[in-house]
Amino acid sequence: MANCEGKMDLTRREVLALAGGLAGAQVVPGPVWAGEPGRVLTAAPAEVQLAPGDFPKTRVWSYGGQVPGPVLRQRQGEMFEARLVNGLEQETTVHWHGVRLPNEMDGVPGMTQAAVRRGESFDYRFALRDAGTFWYHPHANSLEQISRGLAGVLVVDEAEPPEVDAEEILVLDDWRLTEDAQLHPEFGNRHDMSHAGRLGNYITVNGAGELRRSYPKGARLRVRLVNAATARVFRLVFQGMNASVVALDAMPLEAPERIEQVEIGPAQRVDLIVDITAETGEEAIIGSVERDGTYATVSMSVDGAEQAVREAPQALPPNDLPVLEAEGARQVPLVMEGGAMRGLPERVIWQGSKMEARALYEAGQFWAFNGQAGMDGEPLIQAALGETVRVPMENRTAFSHSMHLHGQHFREVLPEGRVGPWRDTLVIHPNETREIAFVAENPGDWMFHCHMAAHQMSGMMNWIRIT
Ligand code: C2O
Ligand code: CU
Repeated sequence: MANCEGKMDLTRREVLALAGGLAGAQVVPGPVWAGEPGRVLTAAPAEVQLAPGDFPKTRVWSYGGQVPGPVLRQRQGEMFEARLVNGLEQETTVHWHGVRLPNEMDGVPGMTQAAVRRGESFDYRFALRDAGTFWYHPHANSLEQISRGLAGVLVVDEAEPPEVDAEEILVLDDWRLTEDAQLHPEFGNRHDMSHAGRLGNYITVNGAGELRRSYPKGARLRVRLVNAATARVFRLVFQGMNASVVALDAMPLEAPERIEQVEIGPAQRVDLIVDITAETGEEAIIGSVERDGTYATVSMSVDGAEQAVREAPQALPPNDLPVLEAEGARQVPLVMEGGAMRGLPERVIWQGSKMEARALYEAGQFWAFNGQAGMDGEPLIQAALGETVRVPMENRTAFSHSMHLHGQHFREVLPEGRVGPWRDTLVIHPNETREIAFVAENPGDWMFHCHMAAHQMSGMMNWIRIT
């Protein structure tokens, strides 16, 4: 059959053949693709070699047959287009985490779009306002869909990216595998929900237990770290290299910051400029600190012609973010309660009625924001477009939470009138109160939830409305 992609000049005969060929075939509904053959992101089951080679392949759910999904990459200012095709047995959507996009492109089923059913598709299209490291994942049945492998990176390049010798996009993930390397099938586990979430027993970077690389001494790398795990907070250490943070959750820091280690909670991103300092013949290592020791995630053998030492890295060009004046802004406190050890208060609102804590546990709800489990008629915060809102978040639980706001970035309010870097996700440890402030710059209904997906589904999910 004739190639039906592109702008081929078809003869009438070929057109007829094409029409005949398509009759009876499964046609994916949805608007006709605009412009050039578009980017298609198919969510479907696949088999990948996740565990070491002597284990069987793992049956996953993936974008484009790979775990993590394909790296989608474009330049700042361009239009982004992707068609999600649902080849799963259940509904799905794609959420473009951290992208400041129009509300109807945010991928939240039942809130910003209808869920995409099996065999159907949805076209996402939005302008890329910000450069940086973003990621994409489903926002339907999130615990199971993300845990089974649905996640990928979206890179938006600056007009003039910094000069480096190489780039490493590193997707950290954490899998709970059975002995034959299959996904542990229990996703409604009450212990996970009421404790630290679905922690795994196998950590991967880009779908492998360990990455091996080779760089010469003096090489400068741009490293984009993404935590795609649904529960694990990673702590990374750097050996044989100088690492400087240049951006957090896509947004450049005003000045790069030299670090020895970094914490990266579920859904957070950290962009680094790394200079290899280990001697030729040695190894440079990015290690993950776990309870029982530090594991190499990336091992770089230092090899090849040594490069001259460079000047300290410079700041990335800033994105166009609003001016944030936290001083005097309205405060909407958020109290986080529940979970094992401490539990919910006596009465909590769930689905419109006050219920006893015990009844909520029966219903699989373990957490509450301001005395309410999950979402209800009213948003947690209502803000006028352009208004600045401060949210002190008090973690009264015995667990850490990775709080994510959709649609706009925020800054932490620090002592003495200072503010922290722009972020879209913040880890709040037990007994901490961390205050954020954001400018309500993007109209619509936006999710505000814990990104530890087991917590999200058992109470830690709410929303804000900007009008
Ligand atoms: Cu990355 Cu509401 O999610
Ligand atoms: Cu949480």
